[in-house]
Amino acid sequence: MNQDAVKGARQSLHGQWSSRLAFILAATGSAVGLGNIWRFPYVAGESGGGAFVIIYLGCILLIGLPVMMSEVLIGRRGRRNPVRTMAVLGEEEGSTRFWGLVGGMGVVAGFLILSFYSVIAGWSLAYVVESASGAFTGADSAAVQAVFGGLTDSVSRLGIWHTLFMVLTVVVVARGVQKGLERAVRVLVPALLVLLFVLLGYAITSGGFAEGAAYLFRPDFSEVTGGVVLMALGQAFFTLSLGMAAIMAYGAYLPEDTSIGSTSITVVVADTSIALLAGLVIFPIVFANGLAPDQGPGLIFLTLPLAFGDMAGGQFFATLFFVLLSFAAWTSAISMIEPAVAWMVERFDVTRAAAASVVGVIIWLLGFLTVMSFNVLSGATFGAGTIFDNIDHLTSNIMLPLGGLLIVVFAGWVMSENSTANELDLATPARYRLWRFLARYVAPVALVAVFLNAIGLF
Ligand code: TRP
Repeated sequence: MNQDAVKGARQSLHGQWSSRLAFILAATGSAVGLGNIWRFPYVAGESGGGAFVIIYLGCILLIGLPVMMSEVLIGRRGRRNPVRTMAVLGEEEGSTRFWGLVGGMGVVAGFLILSFYSVIAGWSLAYVVESASGAFTGADSAAVQAVFGGLTDSVSRLGIWHTLFMVLTVVVVARGVQKGLERAVRVLVPALLVLLFVLLGYAITSGGFAEGAAYLFRPDFSEVTGGVVLMALGQAFFTLSLGMAAIMAYGAYLPEDTSIGSTSITVVVADTSIALLAGLVIFPIVFANGLAPDQGPGLIFLTLPLAFGDMAGGQFFATLFFVLLSFAAWTSAISMIEPAVAWMVERFDVTRAAAASVVGVIIWLLGFLTVMSFNVLSGATFGAGTIFDNIDHLTSNIMLPLGGLLIVVFAGWVMSENSTANELDLATPARYRLWRFLARYVAPVALVAVFLNAIGLF
């Protein structure tokens, strides 16, 4: 019996992707979401543009890619929920079962991230209705501001859309990995791409394209602080869904004969292209309308309606765009609770539906902290800003990079060369050595340096 047959004997309890393409679609569905279209432009705008973008791209390549490959390989080797997988592999590789705590931290991070993600996805749902009803047709900046303010000022309106989004997420997760996830992503990502190109066409003719593109790609490194580098790192983890074992959970359902290297590269390239495309759409519109790039989380919700309001067929395109954005958020949200749900199913022997419901209710309740950060509690600021800003900062900039560090150290140092080489099965020995060098040295050193830098020690 060969090695693969031995490994293949370990099966996931939760089923398997039907093909390599299905995994790519699911992982891309997880990666492509609000992080690319909502978070990337607003964080880049707050961090001064070009230099942030370059550092972000560096983080994607040198840290994001090796961490993603590590998550997938650990997941596939363990074939269980991330908590169990890390514990079992920890023991198998001669270390300890306490590595399971990394999976546990991922579960907690997923709860926190989805609690605000769902609220922002709710904005997108609300904008579907606004767009369809023609609220943005011919609208100027003040009119768009009024629509956005009317939504975010209201606890009940934000709460209702957040509730709806959580219900949608729980329903898909309850139905399981193949039935729920695969179908949703197949049309979505290509359709979103097409719409972004429509918007790009508008942005090019908006009069602000040169300025927008320069803002995005011309770095001014004098603006770079430790905080900016940490934001870029956090954005890299957030947009690739890394550091909380979401991709590890998906890796557990990956067929044995699928190449981890090329699938990871496909996902990373797709995700990064979509973020850059979104930036190339948003900033020209920002400058063409004399708006500020650093206006925070409302950025795309305040700028894109101006573009739609101004273009032929804008009402139709706007509605379609926010439908697609909501779908993209949906396929991402699913991956945030898959680790928790898989863990509960294995640990407590409950059904997926029961696990997803319990997890959903907890996150739904937590979400009201974010709902209220935009109105009744908007004055309650500390640390990074509002309660929402703090949950986002804690998860994206601290928990995800820390989880990523532990994951890549586990794959690079704890797991034997034999195990990782066998699981990755890269086309050439040189590629394996490159991965191992990135996983053992480059990514951990860079991660630790960014942390030390951010707290002012380096
Ligand atoms: N990557 C997704 C986005 O860009 C969000 C996401 C999904 C995520 N799963 C995650 C972020 C896990 C961090 C961790 O919208």
